[in-house]
Amino acid sequence: MKVDGKHFRSIWLEPDGWSVGAIDQRKLPHRFVVVRLTSCDAAADAIRSMLVRGAPLIGATAAYGVALAMRADGSDTALEAACNTLLATRPTAINLKWALEELRLALTPLPASARAAAAYARAGAIAEDDVAINTSIGRHGLGLIEALAAAKKRGERVNVLTHCNAGWLATVDRGTATAPIYLAHDRGLAIHVWVDETRPRNQGSSLTAWELGHHGVPHTVVADNTGGHLMQHGMVDLVIVGTDRVTASGDVCNKIGTYLKALAAHDNGVPFYVALPSPTIDFSIDDGATQIPIEQRAAEEITTMTGRTADGRIETVQIVPDGSPVANYGFDVTPARLVTGLITERGVLNADRAALAAAFPERIAAAAE
Ligand code: MRU
Repeated sequence: MKVDGKHFRSIWLEPDGWSVGAIDQRKLPHRFVVVRLTSCDAAADAIRSMLVRGAPLIGATAAYGVALAMRADGSDTALEAACNTLLATRPTAINLKWALEELRLALTPLPASARAAAAYARAGAIAEDDVAINTSIGRHGLGLIEALAAAKKRGERVNVLTHCNAGWLATVDRGTATAPIYLAHDRGLAIHVWVDETRPRNQGSSLTAWELGHHGVPHTVVADNTGGHLMQHGMVDLVIVGTDRVTASGDVCNKIGTYLKALAAHDNGVPFYVALPSPTIDFSIDDGATQIPIEQRAAEEITTMTGRTADGRIETVQIVPDGSPVANYGFDVTPARLVTGLITERGVLNADRAALAAAFPERIAAAAE
């Protein structure tokens, strides 16, 4: 996607052919800072500290992290250590585990001397595939928006609500939930996005709003608790969110607060769609509520707020009384029964086992091995 006229992906191989470039997402929306990752530990830190975040981007960063490790030492011990370090960074998004397994599969049969080149090749392919997958998700999701647009009066906009950031910053490019939105906008459809701020880290107000603004997509940032009110008043035509893990039976784990949006959508007859690349499906589990590890993060994300002062300084302030205990659950699970459909690279599917198995038979077979 473009940032002030220049094309960027969220992660890339630098011209030196080995170090890895990324956007420091912790600095957005006030500063656009690019960093260079030069070791596996730096890649792991980038994921852990949320310099990079979003399930598909976490996977791609981990893949490049293995490549950086193999460049330094291609031994079995180094491969094992790199995978263990990277896997421990964030527990919920399955794309991390998926990418590491892909790398392990590609590298294990090779001699140590051949592993670095193979790891860079596999990491590059994972990044390219992500862009192709998201392009396809965009095409499939576009049909949903076009159908809603066709039922509108002349000049009326299709209103989409989204939660967190499942945009190009969360993937390698285009995003998942945003791919149909960008495509609809580029094709001239009148579209408007309600952006949930997404406390505590504000990925909606700081990242999604920033992305949409740079692409010229009309949008409005709302406090997280606003969605139900908007839906009651007919101001949301559909919800599209991303996901960090979908079970074999179609339960959807995503940023905390997604479940409440799904409940409100259900109560108000608003379609609730989830956009996902197939690496986000975890065919090894069925029940999202009990089988997905939910990341619990530092209290500071809730007790403080960071922003720009009127004179341009970036400052962090405390907003919770000293000593109040805090719980910071990063994700929640929306049961499949509340999901209208899953927008995948192979089409819009019912959120159930039969539809997922029919669309991705090779993944079912691999999970059974
Ligand atoms: O904690 P984050 O910012 O990594 O959480 C991101 C989300 O929950 C996204 O909605 C999800 O990863 C889908 S990204 C295409």
